[in-house]
Amino acid sequence: MDTFPTTFIYIFLFLSTLLYYYISKKQNKKHKQTPKLPPGSMGWPYIGDTLQLYSKDPNTFFSDKQKRYGDIFKTHILGCPCVMLASPEASKFVLVNSANLFKPTYPKSKEKMIGPAALFFHQGDYHYHLRKLVQSSLSLEAIKKLIPGVESIAISTLDSWANGQIINTFHGMKKFSFEVGILAIFGHLENHYREELKKNYSILDKGYNSFPTNLPGTAYHKAVLARKRLGLILGQIINERKEKKVLENDLLGHLLNFKNEKGQILTEDQIADNIIGVLFAAQDTTASALTWILKYLHDNPKLLEAVKEEQKTIYLSNEKGKKGLTWAQTRNMPFTYKVILESLRMASIVSFTFREAVVDVEYNGYLIPKGWKVMPLFRNIHHNPEYFNEPQSFDPYRFEVAPKPNTYMPFGNGSHSCPGNELAKLEMLILIHHLVNKLRWEVLGSGEVEYSPFPVPKNGLPARFYDRAGQ
Ligand code: HEM
Ligand SMILES: *[C@@H]1O[C@H](CO)[C@@H](O)[C@H](O)[C@H]1NC(C)=O
Ligand SMILES: *[C@@H]1O[C@H](CO)[C@@H](O)[C@H](O)[C@H]1NC(C)=O
Repeated sequence: MDTFPTTFIYIFLFLSTLLYYYISKKQNKKHKQTPKLPPGSMGWPYIGDTLQLYSKDPNTFFSDKQKRYGDIFKTHILGCPCVMLASPEASKFVLVNSANLFKPTYPKSKEKMIGPAALFFHQGDYHYHLRKLVQSSLSLEAIKKLIPGVESIAISTLDSWANGQIINTFHGMKKFSFEVGILAIFGHLENHYREELKKNYSILDKGYNSFPTNLPGTAYHKAVLARKRLGLILGQIINERKEKKVLENDLLGHLLNFKNEKGQILTEDQIADNIIGVLFAAQDTTASALTWILKYLHDNPKLLEAVKEEQKTIYLSNEKGKKGLTWAQTRNMPFTYKVILESLRMASIVSFTFREAVVDVEYNGYLIPKGWKVMPLFRNIHHNPEYFNEPQSFDPYRFEVAPKPNTYMPFGNGSHSCPGNELAKLEMLILIHHLVNKLRWEVLGSGEVEYSPFPVPKNGLPARFYDRAGQ
């Protein structure tokens, strides 16, 4: 009887020591592992840093912060807590290696405008399947066949400018990239459909960045109505295609042909949303890049001469354009190609992108809480002297050496990277080929930049174009 309490005490002591160690170890572990939020100022919620972002040149906004806090910092944008990432490693983490921990995120009003089933709003299976399909319709094999079509669009676009009138270069380039988008999506499309799509799409385009309110008469409301009409027009095109029962190799053909493992096909709305989505992703990006290329070449006459030289040789070997460009020729324009790469770096048209953490994520000892946005800052990386020597100078020759992985991402990286990048580069090469061979141009604008939301030279780079034959 006497021994019982002692034994009890021993057992108790033993267990409690064990428990103590267990708890303290766990706490310790927890302590070590509880990551902290990244540095930075959050500003006032909602207004936060948004005002600063929009009142300052976004370049200065981000690089001021980067100087103060380093490559990872927190802030508020449009009411959302947000972690900004300005290093190649962090971008790789979010976009490539741990892409499954982050999902794409867009304002609801934009999702509604383009169509909620468009692939870039999605993650997982649906995204994977659609992406494969879009990628195969924009593969090298597929875009090869588009060369004659793209060439004839380029020639007619340029012809319409050649009378010395002032042209808004960005608007002109938007017409070009829209037509190329239509070609890649539909192949041949009857004229009346093309016109209806063009007119209604331009109403959608005008409303896309306006304040989302359903008050009749506003640009946003008009855009919502135009989007409905676009759905109807696409429905007609889809039905006509289905009746014809011919298998086409363009994007619409691929979308109509789709079946998942369960044998399900895509609905008409899913197809329409993805067509509008691709048009949207393709138009302003490519047009903005081309506009910048014209400006950079105009500002750097020696480089323009080098491009002309390269393109003239090809033009002459094609009997002054009597023969069309071949695939091999478009793949052998090394200097013009570097001009395109350098323009994409300098202008960094997609300056950054957004994702949202789907769980609490730890990166480099920092916590990115579930629901927070993350923004890989492509432009800051492209303008960091650590990766690009004298980043502010336009120097295509720097691309004689390939940039390090994840330091050059004009088309993003990972599971959502741009499936249209080869088409974009091809259409730019073709347009530049004919531009420098047929026209000369004078730029009228000043050096200022507008954000629409892609960076574009002010007023779309007003310019006059003249036929070189008439010189
Ligand atoms: C110079 C022109 C272009 C640039 C700079 C550009 C840039 C980009 C970037 C950076 C992304 C990734 C965005 C992110 O990760 O959040 C992207 C995605 C996308 N781009 Fe492009 N793009 C261009 C032209 C095109 C063209 C011509 C097409 C189609 C014909 C296209 C179709 C798409 C699509 C469908 C996506 C979404 C992919 C996905 O979410 O899986 N883009 N683009
Ligand atoms: C838009 O689409 C409709 C068909 O739904 C068409 O009748 C109309 O001409 C198109 N253009 C404009 C500017 O609305
Ligand atoms: C994308 O990420 C992979 C893996 O880090 C890398 O090998 C590749 O070079 C990256 N692409 C670009 C364009 O930086």
